[in-house]
Amino acid sequence: MLRLFLRLYLFLMLPSTAAFVLFMYVTDQVMTQMQAEQQRTRAGVAFDRAERIISDKRVPDWQGRLKEIEKTFRVEHQIVPLDLALDDLFMSASEKERLAGGDIAFRDRPGGGMVYLRRIKDSDRALRIEWVGVYEYQLIYYAIILTLITVAMCAILWRWTRPLWRDLESLTAATASVGGGDFGVRADVGKGSLLAPIASAFNVMAQRVQALLQSHRDLEQGVAHELRTPLAQLKFDLELARASQEEAERDKRFEAMERDVVDLEDLVSELLVLASLRHAPPYSPRDVPARALVDEVMRRAQDEMRTAGRSVRIEPPEHLPETLSCDAKSLTRALVNVLRNAVRYARSQVALTVERAGAHTVIRVDDDGPGVPSRERARLFEPFARVEDSRGRDSGGVGLGLAIVKSVAEWHGGTATISESPLGGARVSISW
Ligand SMILES: Nc1ncnc2c1ncn2[C@@H]1O[C@H](COP(=O)(O)OP(=O)(O)OP(=O)(O)O)[C@@H](O)[C@H]1O
Ligand SMILES: [Mg+2]
Repeated sequence: MLRLFLRLYLFLMLPSTAAFVLFMYVTDQVMTQMQAEQQRTRAGVAFDRAERIISDKRVPDWQGRLKEIEKTFRVEHQIVPLDLALDDLFMSASEKERLAGGDIAFRDRPGGGMVYLRRIKDSDRALRIEWVGVYEYQLIYYAIILTLITVAMCAILWRWTRPLWRDLESLTAATASVGGGDFGVRADVGKGSLLAPIASAFNVMAQRVQALLQSHRDLEQGVAHELRTPLAQLKFDLELARASQEEAERDKRFEAMERDVVDLEDLVSELLVLASLRHAPPYSPRDVPARALVDEVMRRAQDEMRTAGRSVRIEPPEHLPETLSCDAKSLTRALVNVLRNAVRYARSQVALTVERAGAHTVIRVDDDGPGVPSRERARLFEPFARVEDSRGRDSGGVGLGLAIVKSVAEWHGGTATISESPLGGARVSISW
C-alpha cells in the first residue's frame, strides 16, 4: 500500500512541484521585465541618496547613517570593486554594459527580488543595493504554498489509493482462493471502483467454473446412480435365472435381463451424445430445408410412439420457413427428444410450431399433458433430473433427453425453456 502510495505520490508530486517552480520563475521574470524601467527609477532615488551620504564630507559617520537608512527602508548597501561586480555570473551582458557605462544595472536575487548596482562616479567601485524587506518572506511564502500543495496532494492521493488498494487486495485474495480450488469466493470491490469491471469479469468467470464443476460432479454422481439400478436388476435376474428349475421361468428372466441391457445401452449412448455435444467443435450453421427436417423429426417421433404403443395426434407446423439455419443432425436429435417427452406425457394431442424471423428461430412443442410445475422447469434441463412425483424412471427414460436439448440449444448460441402450453400441458421451446 505504502509503495503504491509513494510511487503515485512521486509520480504526481515531482512534475507538479517542477511546474510550480517554473511558473513562479517565469512569472517573476516577466514581471521584472515589465517593470524594469520603473524599478530602475525607484532604485535611482536610493542610489542618489546613498551616494550623497557617502560622498558628503560633512557627514562624519556615513556608515552609521547608511545603517539607519537600511533599517528604515529594509535595504542593504554594499560597496564592491567594479571588476568583481562585472564578473557577476548572474548578471546578463546587457546589464553589465549598463553598469560599465555608469547606469543602474540589476540581476536576480536568490530567494526573490533584485540586486541593483551602480558605479560610484569617478571611481572603480560600485554601490550595490539589495531590497531585503519584501523578499524576506518570499521563501517562507513559497515554502508554505509548497507544503499546502504537498499536504493536499497527500490527502487526495490517500483518499484515492486506499479504496483502490482495498479492492486490489480483495481481488488478489479472491484470485488466490480460486487458484487454491475454492470457487465459491467472489471479489468484493466498490461499485464505482476502477477495478469493478475486472472484478465483475473475474466473478462471472469464477461462477461459471463453479457451475461447470458442479455440473460435472452432478453428472458423475448421476451416472453412478443411474448405472446402479439396471446393474442391480441384472444381478438379481441372473441369480433368479440360475436358481430357477423351470425353462419358462428362466426364459422370463433372460427377457428381463435383455431389457436391462437395452436400458444400459440407452444410457451409455445418451451419455456419449451429451459428451460429444459438450466437446463439440465450434457451431457452424448451414441452411437446411425446414420441410425435410420437420418431416424427419415427425417420422421418427411417430415410429417411437408406435413402438411405445401410444396413440397421440402430432400436429405438424402450419407455417414453415423455407430454411432453418442450424446443425441438422443435432437439432433433429433435440426435437425428437422433446417430441418423445411430449408424446409420453400428452393425453391426446401434441403440436409443433416453427417460427423464423431473420436470424432468429423459435421451435415450440406443445402438449396437453400434466405440464411441469414452474419451480421444476429450469432443473429438468440438468442430467437425470425428473419431476419429483410418481413419474420416476419406470414411466420415463434415461433422464438425459432435456440435458441433450439444452446442450444443443446452447451450442447453437440459444436457449431451451419450459413454459405453460395453450393446450394445457407443457411447452418446450428451443430458440437461437
Ligand atoms: N412434456 C412434458 N410434460 C411433463 N413432464 C415432462 C415433459 N418433458 C419432460 N418432462 C419431465 O422432465 C423429465 C426429464 O426429461 P428428460 O427428457 O430429460 O428425461 P427422460 O424423458 O426421463 O429420459 P430420456 O429422455 O433421456 O429418455 C422427465 O422425466 C419428466 O419428468
Ligand atoms: Mg425424454
